[in-house]
Amino acid sequence: MNDIAQKISELSEAIRRHNRMYYVLDDPEISDAEYDRLFRELVELERQYPELAAPDSPTKKVGAPPQKTFSAVQHTIPMLSLENGFNDKGLIDFDGRIRKFLGESREVEYAVEPKIDGLAVEIVYEKGLLTVASTRGDGSVGEDVTANIKTILTVPLKLTQKENRPLPPDLLEVRGEVYMERAAFQKLNDGRLQKGLPPFANPRNAAAGSLRQLDHRVTVKRPLNMFCYGFGTITNPAFDTYYEMMLALQEWGLRVNRPHIRLCRDVKNVMAYCHEIEEKRDQFPYEIDGAVIKTNRLDLQARLGTKSRSPRWAMAFKFKPTQETTRIRKIAVQVGRTGVLTPVAHLEPVEIGGVTVSRATLHNPDEIERKDVREGDTVVVQRAGDVIPEVVKVVSSKRTGDEKKFVMPSHCPVCGSAILRRESEVALRCENPLCPAQVRGAL
Ligand code: IVH
Repeated sequence: MNDIAQKISELSEAIRRHNRMYYVLDDPEISDAEYDRLFRELVELERQYPELAAPDSPTKKVGAPPQKTFSAVQHTIPMLSLENGFNDKGLIDFDGRIRKFLGESREVEYAVEPKIDGLAVEIVYEKGLLTVASTRGDGSVGEDVTANIKTILTVPLKLTQKENRPLPPDLLEVRGEVYMERAAFQKLNDGRLQKGLPPFANPRNAAAGSLRQLDHRVTVKRPLNMFCYGFGTITNPAFDTYYEMMLALQEWGLRVNRPHIRLCRDVKNVMAYCHEIEEKRDQFPYEIDGAVIKTNRLDLQARLGTKSRSPRWAMAFKFKPTQETTRIRKIAVQVGRTGVLTPVAHLEPVEIGGVTVSRATLHNPDEIERKDVREGDTVVVQRAGDVIPEVVKVVSSKRTGDEKKFVMPSHCPVCGSAILRRESEVALRCENPLCPAQVRGAL
């Protein structure tokens, strides 16, 4: 029993630390998949030993408290998180729980849409004018990011009122996800590298780091975007369903993920659409990490209500991870067809999204330097779409002191010729046109 209490306390501590790195510092140390595993392990232990579950356990909490550097904004209705499911069974169980709770033998209709990998915000419109915008924070209190949100071109400062159409309510609190498109993220990082600034690890961190700026003149230069997918308080809500609500938001000039929000009349259709989105995952110009399933009828949402951390009426179907954590056994150099030397990390094999990965590119010596990657390091590895797996970052807290710095060879490991660096190039090359690696590649 003591061991279990110890384990629960360790897991809670680790999750709190990772929450801080993710939500406060916008610089997570581990992959989302690893975080989800820690979280699930704690949920499972607390389920088995409820008497050992702490009242302030991170499994009952959302996000992290707001940073003192921002003014605090109290949410009128808590901004919650979502319960995760990782497979079809998760969806069937969710539908089963809902129908049991409602005492409903008929099928329940769901609205399903992509889960955007960004950060949640709430924007308050009073009499059609944007007055306050905040981050989710710990769910009850968020950070005031009004000036920063106002720099996002697709967020209207004033809502549209069309003739003969329902007016926006006097008070409209909309919620949604602020994110950065992949191409914009790439461009931002290229620019940062050129200026000698540290790049962002992924579009989510870039979006969070850009929005949570004390100086909105920094935010204005960052290509942020937003999708609305929910609401807080609304005066006289005159809608029956989530879907109608989304259409209304769109009419008022707010951006919703319209072509990808689909109504599914039963859980079978939900499953099919979740798989469809997952298959198309790489075709979206922004990163998505799952699908969100919501009961469409708002009266059913109200009857289902919420638990401490998440509503009963919605869930996230999480896609297979694209990042995992593993260890670098050694770093070796590959010579390509054009003579370019690419440092490659040989890994302890790890499964990422159903494929075993044992090598990952380190791109070039500058990248090794920048990320300070060493042999023996524990690293986050990413395998997304058809792209070659790459080392994203080092988990520095796992350093033991036994890691070895890697030095690029001065001579080609294949033919032994001297290695040169062409002016204005980051890559090192073997310039011997007869190098077997190059000849082999050319064939
Ligand atoms: S609905 C009660 N819809 O995922 C919360 N959330 O892991 C209702 N998210 O906190 C949220 N895309 O920040 C919803 N289409 C979407 C979403 C979405 C991304 C985020 C949101 C939420 C988190 C939960």
